[in-house]
Amino acid sequence: MTLLNRGETPMPEKREADLLVTGIGQAYTARAALPGTGPDDRSLADSTFIPELISDAAIACNEGRILYSGSEEEVEDHVDASDALIVEADGRLVTPGLVDCHTHLIFDGSRHDEYAMRCMGAGYLDIAEAGGGIRSSVRMFRDADEEQLFNTALTRMAAMAFTGTTTVEMKSGYGLTLEDELKALSVAGMLSDEGSLRAVSTFLGAHEVPDEYRSDRSSYVDLVVGEMIPAVAEQGIARFCDVFCEKGVFTVEESERVLRAGLENGLGAKIHSDEFEALGGTEMAVAIGAVSAEHLTSLTESGIDALAGSTTVPVLLPGTTLFLGRHDYAPARKLLERGAQVALATDFNPGSSTFLSLPLITTIACSQMKMHPAEAMQAVTTNAARAIGLQDEVGKLEAGMAADLVIWDADDYRMIPYAAGHPLVLFVVIEGDVVSFD
Ligand code: NIG
Ligand code: FE
Repeated sequence: MTLLNRGETPMPEKREADLLVTGIGQAYTARAALPGTGPDDRSLADSTFIPELISDAAIACNEGRILYSGSEEEVEDHVDASDALIVEADGRLVTPGLVDCHTHLIFDGSRHDEYAMRCMGAGYLDIAEAGGGIRSSVRMFRDADEEQLFNTALTRMAAMAFTGTTTVEMKSGYGLTLEDELKALSVAGMLSDEGSLRAVSTFLGAHEVPDEYRSDRSSYVDLVVGEMIPAVAEQGIARFCDVFCEKGVFTVEESERVLRAGLENGLGAKIHSDEFEALGGTEMAVAIGAVSAEHLTSLTESGIDALAGSTTVPVLLPGTTLFLGRHDYAPARKLLERGAQVALATDFNPGSSTFLSLPLITTIACSQMKMHPAEAMQAVTTNAARAIGLQDEVGKLEAGMAADLVIWDADDYRMIPYAAGHPLVLFVVIEGDVVSFD
């Protein structure tokens, strides 16, 4: 028992940590700086997000959660780290683990042949129309077994962790039969249980009209709505339902049918919209309360208006624009200036983007879409977490959040986009477990 003198307030009991990351030169918390406390940085414009940066910081964790993050003295005052594993950051940068909120991680084979054709001028939609594209990945996927799909996806996950990703969203969409879509989501479930990253699954049965339904497309939408979505919901193997709303793929009306069926079955709505042609998919998605609208390279003023006044997260995929050899990057600055919470993702897939690295995506976003490094970092942490409904779980260095963080061989967060693709990650911590790449 502690005896106190009159008037003395007791020190709150120190909470026990099992992991302490200390000696942090700069902690990028992904919270906004309190007014007047932001960094002295001339590149930050009025409309730019001002990040909180803590120098000489420490982060204490227990049982996979952050207990306290702040200056070393504060953490010392609040936390008992006498039995903790100590990670010495040696003056380096620490950020939240990065969140890749849009990937097609589970597929078989490769489409380097189409890539070569595109380099010589062929168009993505022309290749798709001629039977290649997503449909060629579908043929390979149907022939692959779960073990093969699991093992290749696991290797990709490891490569993602190496670049700082700790949470990944992954979509089905290369099966396009009831059985094959369930196979994709079953592999996703195995990856979520046994893989190295925190994972979220999305059902994308409406990714393309498969070969066997080309002359009867409405029957395929019936199958997605009437059989696939109820089966996915019943098995509880996906959190979201997505659709590729695009000219030659699914119309706005078909997309709405699919997403509404998903919502009725408890699956949050996501959409691939305005990638090549602006059809109105983004406006429809906002109207039905979609969690996110993604791609948006052909976004119109009316799409920007819709997103700006909504909680639907615009997820921009500039790696795809670059990989496809296009120049029509999504209007990031306009969205940011209208107050939208822009997220960024790799869109990792075998056709339109083979990027696995979110840091490289921030480089493309900053250089090509004129995002500030602070905005790009928000876009791959808190805003990406919001795009997959995990904003209360990951994406911030804050007490109560998951202990997912990255220790970088850098001393300033602006190094992440600047050092285009350099292997800067020293350690990632996922749910309190330290993975070293040293
Ligand atoms: O997000 N646009 C549609 N789906 C993917 C491409 C998938 C593929 O080409 O295999 C995308 O870019
Ligand atoms: Fe995609």
